[in-house]
Amino acid sequence: MTTIHEIAPDLFRLSIYVLDFDMQFNHFLVRDEEPLLFHAGFKGMFPALREAVATLMDPTKLRHIAWSHFESDEIGALNHWLELAPQAQPVCTFVGKLVSVDDFSIRPARGMTAEDVLTTGKYRYRFHRSPHLPHGWDAGVLFEETRKTLFCSDLFHHFGDVAPVTSSDLIGPARKAMQQMQQGPLADYLPYTRQTEGVLRSLAALKPETLAVMHGSSYIGPGERLLTDLAGVIKENF
Ligand SMILES: [Fe+2]
Ligand SMILES: [Fe+2]
Repeated sequence: MTTIHEIAPDLFRLSIYVLDFDMQFNHFLVRDEEPLLFHAGFKGMFPALREAVATLMDPTKLRHIAWSHFESDEIGALNHWLELAPQAQPVCTFVGKLVSVDDFSIRPARGMTAEDVLTTGKYRYRFHRSPHLPHGWDAGVLFEETRKTLFCSDLFHHFGDVAPVTSSDLIGPARKAMQQMQQGPLADYLPYTRQTEGVLRSLAALKPETLAVMHGSSYIGPGERLLTDLAGVIKENF
């Protein structure tokens, strides 16, 4: 079952909770002149997500399918969306396009560099490179500049079938999730590198007002401090 929540005007969170992992998989739809979906989702979730999108708009009218890094929960159903929506284009980092996506995708991706701006109508986006953060050489995070929304993928990942939105601290739940992950087969999913702190500091400088989190509650409030603090928590755990 998909839970739909409008976390900000035109910004919808489509959430599927998987009990076996005690984890939510969240997909974000921006309903604008050129609708954008952030996270294509697993292939197995596609029918449910398509139905969820259809309650908000005609899914064949999607224009942009974006994500952070090449992994099945982020990109698995990309080609299903591209088949459904003939005008939709994949959107990712330039590295993502080059090293994986154009070979995988039925249509070439728009590989965004630091200079590129994507406009969907009312909203304007840039991709910020974040190599190996949360993981993967190709990783990036999408920032919507008019409303200051950071689509931050696995950053701030936490467990549970939690509320769609919180305005309290995400650091506690994220720290707990890292500790829990380090005890299991998916340990070391998030590397701490020489770049980690600098990348997070540059994202903090964007002063996001909404953090659209892939696994767990989204955050509404000043995101600057949370991003700065996250560097310390990653260092502490990895
Ligand atoms: Fe990931
Ligand atoms: Fe993820």
